[in-house]
Amino acid sequence: REVRIIGAPTDYGANRRGVDMGPSAIRYAGLADELTAAGVDVVDTGDLLVPTAETRDPTVDEPEEEGRKAKFVREVEDVSLRLADQVAEAIDEGGVPLVLGGDHSVAIGCLSGSSRDADIGAIWFDAHGDYNTPETSPSGNIHGMPLAAALGYRDLADVEWANAPGLSEENVVWVGLRSLDEAEREGIRESEGTAFTMSDIDEHGMSEIIDRALEIATDGVDGIHVSLDLDWLDPNEAPGVGTPVHGGATYREAHYALERVAEYDERHDGLRSMDVVEVNPVLDEHNQTAKLATELAASALGKRIL
Ligand code: ARG
Ligand code: MN
Ligand code: MN
Ligand code: MN
Repeated sequence: REVRIIGAPTDYGANRRGVDMGPSAIRYAGLADELTAAGVDVVDTGDLLVPTAETRDPTVDEPEEEGRKAKFVREVEDVSLRLADQVAEAIDEGGVPLVLGGDHSVAIGCLSGSSRDADIGAIWFDAHGDYNTPETSPSGNIHGMPLAAALGYRDLADVEWANAPGLSEENVVWVGLRSLDEAEREGIRESEGTAFTMSDIDEHGMSEIIDRALEIATDGVDGIHVSLDLDWLDPNEAPGVGTPVHGGATYREAHYALERVAEYDERHDGLRSMDVVEVNPVLDEHNQTAKLATELAASALGKRIL
């Protein structure tokens, strides 16, 4: 199978500039070579064209209602629609799309494209739940909303473009949560998805948690989307992110989890699509976070030690 790299250099959804340079930093870290060495056929389709945020107005073009905010929502809509098409096309042609963010709002297009003609589950490796809505978000940043948006929860403007038609809520699994907003926490508790926090990983170990995550995410669906937010890892490992949170996954835990994804994929051909997001080279130390993103993507796509 071919892995198709699609760059999505956006920062519309984040509170910090610089994450739009993620695709470039990840390529510079040697992604294509790393994947080739792992035995993968790689095709790089380049980057989506994304107008720079400075040329845009973050406010919605309709008068902003009290208590409802989603910055750059029109811009995110535009990127999501084009990205969804590319993701769906890559899958149609027998490939696995590997989307390089960009902030986590790019997952909206990934999930929507990946689930266009299939029922899918999703594993969300992240410190954050990204389950806010324009109503609950304290920041208005859409990178805190993609999962709720994809599941069709409330209006990110006219929500249809954000919908992931075949994403099944009970097959959504969060792994590594440690920072939730209040209303978001309620939402996750009430959702049919399964949330594994860092405490769950402390208690049971990554090996048991990733087993359970894979079992739940893959149950009864055609395949899964894997979303890898680099702030899932501890900031000691991944300093180049806009919203770091202490106490994250270690280097070995992260590799192990993604190696298990690859193993699952080898047996069931079930990894439909993947994104690697929130790498911010402006905040990074010597491209360390981009390098880590590269290595972890290779682990997920079949790199082996032996
Ligand atoms: N929960 C916070 C918010 O909604 C932070 C979200 C961070 N998300 C991310 N993809 N880094 O603004
Ligand atoms: Mn995050
Ligand atoms: Mn146990
Ligand atoms: Mn995230």
